[in-house]
Amino acid sequence: MRAVAVYPAKREVRVVDHPEPKITSGTQARMRVLDVGVCGTDRDIVSFEYGTPPEGSEYLIIGHESLSEVVEAGPQVSKVKPGDLVVMTVRRPCPHPSCVACREGRQDFCYTGDFTERGIKQNHGYMTEFVVEEERYLHLVPRGLRDVAVLVEPLTIAEKSLEQLWAVQRRVPWEHRRCAVVLGAGPVGILGAMALKIEGFEVSVYSRSPNHEEKNSILNAIGAQYIAAETHSSEDMAKIAGSIDVVYEATGASSVAFDVLKHLGPNAVFVFTGVPGRGGPIPVDTDEIMRNMVLNNQVVLGSVNAPPHAFQSAIQHLGIFAQRWPETLRSLITARFPLERALDALQIHPDGVKNVVAVAS
Ligand SMILES: NC(=O)c1ccc[n+]([C@@H]2O[C@H](COP(=O)([O-])OP(=O)(O)OC[C@H]3O[C@@H](n4cnc5c(N)ncnc54)[C@H](OP(=O)(O)O)[C@@H]3O)[C@@H](O)[C@H]2O)c1
Ligand SMILES: [Zn+2]
Ligand SMILES: [Zn+2]
Repeated sequence: MRAVAVYPAKREVRVVDHPEPKITSGTQARMRVLDVGVCGTDRDIVSFEYGTPPEGSEYLIIGHESLSEVVEAGPQVSKVKPGDLVVMTVRRPCPHPSCVACREGRQDFCYTGDFTERGIKQNHGYMTEFVVEEERYLHLVPRGLRDVAVLVEPLTIAEKSLEQLWAVQRRVPWEHRRCAVVLGAGPVGILGAMALKIEGFEVSVYSRSPNHEEKNSILNAIGAQYIAAETHSSEDMAKIAGSIDVVYEATGASSVAFDVLKHLGPNAVFVFTGVPGRGGPIPVDTDEIMRNMVLNNQVVLGSVNAPPHAFQSAIQHLGIFAQRWPETLRSLITARFPLERALDALQIHPDGVKNVVAVAS
């Protein structure tokens, strides 16, 4: 079968012929891959900055944001049957008996770092025709979400962040959902803005460029406002947005993140999701930040995706987005490319949100 493979040692990316996987235990299912979303992580992998092939393999099959159709289910599989649509999780547990997180099925909190990730770290991904997976890593998706369910995986970043947010905010015995600021208008930021809107926040999205016509219209349609960092300082942004209760950071740019951190409101939570490259030190007024954090009971946390229930919440939220904003949700998928043109899908469309490799229809 065809697969998109990265050879880090040879610095090559190409479509290869890979052996078709077979079910080897009764708890597995075999899937035909339909859609695979492309994100910055894939772009880093095909630029050889990131990504590790499985032990003994020269190449890594990329792709971690997927939608597939079950074609065969082992005798002990009860959750799904042939014909069902499923989204697969990405991270697989480390092998260490001492890692309580992985042993509990919470490899998103792995203590050892020896987890694997399909399409990213020591485990082949989904940009291929067929995959085999254990039932526990599959999440059933309603047929009505066929066109957009490839967005489930990137949406789990927001789902886990929201869960962390509400866990922290159990410390205050009242409801307070006023002002959320999302940093970054990439797919992670836009999906986060949608989730925060559904959760009842007024949402402002603060991202670099003032020239995002398509993204602006997406944000208008969901009732969020766009503020451009190139034309508005963080002080201007804070004045427009109001007293900030939550920041959902989705830029991977520590300079803008720490600049906005100083504008956090009372009892607020700042969630980092971006993974910056190593750009070297930047000046930050740490006295101001520490003072604010203490005197305003602020919490800063980092969040990496995602537990199984975040996939369930993402599927539910996507259903709500599809009812409330059907056209807008579909417009998040900028273009679909056949597998042979996967390398074109990995190019950035200046104002697009998500390119998808449509492996099968
Ligand atoms: N935590 C997790 O589990 C997880 C999982 C996947 C990805 N991530 C991370 O999430 C982050 C966002 O992902 P994505 O796919 O949405 O990325 P993306 O498409 O690259 O979008 C990033 C956005 O941030 C904006 N931005 C970048 N630098 C900025 C700056 N200095 N000031 C203001 N805005 C800035 C960009 O603005 P313009 O478009 O205006 O230039 C862009 O809209 C990445 O760092 C990625 O590594 C985290
Ligand atoms: Zn991704
Ligand atoms: Zn572990």
